[in-house]
Amino acid sequence: MTTFQLNGRTVSPDSPGDAPLLWVIRDDIGLTGTKFGCGIAACGACTVHVNGKAVRSCVTPLSTMAGAQVTTIEGLDPKDAHPLQTAWIELQVPQCGYCQSGQIMQAAALLKTNPAPSDAQIDSAMNGNLCRCMAYVRIKQAIKLAAARMQGAKA
Ligand code: FES
Ligand code: FES
Repeated sequence: MTTFQLNGRTVSPDSPGDAPLLWVIRDDIGLTGTKFGCGIAACGACTVHVNGKAVRSCVTPLSTMAGAQVTTIEGLDPKDAHPLQTAWIELQVPQCGYCQSGQIMQAAALLKTNPAPSDAQIDSAMNGNLCRCMAYVRIKQAIKLAAARMQGAKA
């Protein structure tokens, strides 16, 4: 059995060690904000944070999570009011919404290490997160808005 922290809570899911983290999160634990898109680390819909880094949970075996700190979209902010989430709502970023939790988790990992990313740095960090609704322009605008506000809050 693998024990890890999920959104600040200790969990020991009863799945085999080779079970993908994505299915453990969704099926064993019941948090469905993290989405399945491709299953081969090619779309980003399943992105979560593992020890603060963006990780594709569809190709991450449960057995590698022992002692890890895992954060899903449900745990990003206690009030669902991370600056990215508020910017997302304000700019009405989602269309169908399916890719969006992965987009936000990827962007949150970027802003953690690079609080004021350039356009090129945003493009590079978000490159592996696909959106079939082509919301890319609004996604980028929302990341820039959130980054500006986070910078302003620190000043
Ligand atoms: S479902 Fe994991 S990257 Fe597509
Ligand atoms: S909003 Fe529909 S896939 Fe991105």
